[in-house]
Amino acid sequence: MQDLSDTAQTAPMPALQISGLSKSFGTFTALKGIDLAIEKGEFVCFLGPSGCGKTTLLRAIAGLDVQDYGTILQNGRDISGLPVHGRDFGIVFQSYALFPNLSVARNVGFGLRGSDLGRQQRKARVAELLSMVGLDGQAEKYPAQLSGGQQQRVALARALAPSPGLLLLDEPLSALDAQVRLHLRDQLRQLQRELGVTTIMVTHDQDEALSIADRIVVMRQGQIEQIGTPEEVFRHPATAFVAGFLGDMNFIPARVQSAGTVAVGDTVFEVPDTAPHAPGDAVSLCIRPADIMVGDFGDDTPNRLGATVRTVSFRGNFHQLSVRCPDLAEPLDIELRHQGEARRRMTEGTALDIALPPRKLVLFPAGG
Ligand SMILES: Nc1ncnc2c1ncn2[C@@H]1O[C@H](COP(=O)(O)OP(=O)(O)OP(=O)(O)O)[C@@H](O)[C@H]1O
Ligand SMILES: [Mg+2]
Repeated sequence: MQDLSDTAQTAPMPALQISGLSKSFGTFTALKGIDLAIEKGEFVCFLGPSGCGKTTLLRAIAGLDVQDYGTILQNGRDISGLPVHGRDFGIVFQSYALFPNLSVARNVGFGLRGSDLGRQQRKARVAELLSMVGLDGQAEKYPAQLSGGQQQRVALARALAPSPGLLLLDEPLSALDAQVRLHLRDQLRQLQRELGVTTIMVTHDQDEALSIADRIVVMRQGQIEQIGTPEEVFRHPATAFVAGFLGDMNFIPARVQSAGTVAVGDTVFEVPDTAPHAPGDAVSLCIRPADIMVGDFGDDTPNRLGATVRTVSFRGNFHQLSVRCPDLAEPLDIELRHQGEARRRMTEGTALDIALPPRKLVLFPAGG
């Protein structure tokens, strides 16, 4: 007979299991029935526009904002009703929130309060943490003597001090300038891998989420719009909202004509798949600016259009074109990355041939 208890032990238990979580502030519902499981050691980003509920969800996990409905299990244990100090997490906020009157060492040591370490062990642990976040030799400084990036490293060391089972980060890099931000982002990711600590980071920066997360939870208006790896949410957005939020996207109003074709005015485009839409359905035909072909392609290339350049702007790694096509009501954005093409003289009024490769086209319901 199969030993069921053994099976139960080997089945992976999520580090965090959130079910039916809802939270209102007065009459405003900030979270609407959130379901989410996070595996041990995962780095998950909550991504979405301002006000979509990212911080509220993070604070509910920490017990700082208590949910109205729903449950949170951490390693199978129901923590939904536990006070903040009864939960196992470390947290870092956007504003470094250090004690200005305490040295770096004592700020980090604050994270060890309540531990039963002796004085020497405590000192050794603080030194270890400071070394881990790249702050060797800074122990006796005060927060005001540190840069923003250094202060955020102190906050991180303090959060990691008790070796929490869960690391919660609310926009920890947003206040830093671009270069420091990129550097600290890489270090954070490396440190998280080394420690294997399950991590949730809130961000509204899509590049940050795409580059750092194992999985991204895209949120909108208190709900989860899509959960997936960075590749999944970028390449296979589940909704028009996700498509538009993660990277640039052209949305062209169209109508399904037959299985495999859509019509934009009098122009018919081939698409890989029209399902689940039926002929006659209004849809958005979507293509990323970088996926539009420009210039020299063969006569058998499908979905060709004549276009006229409206504007050209240099963006460092590419040129951004806005073009107008006689058949389309709205202009299209194009990212032009190829050296040869980018060097060609393109100015306002230049006529171009463009093509929308069928395999790069995605359909969403209109108005989604
Ligand atoms: N204490 C509160 N009282 C009333 N409304 C609140 C409170 N906290 C949050 N809200 C509202 O709940 C919604 C979600 O807020 P939340 O802070 O979770 O958004 P967010 O996704 O973190 O946004 P941001 O990117 O701007 O930080 C917002 O509309 C906000 O105004
Ligand atoms: Mg927030």
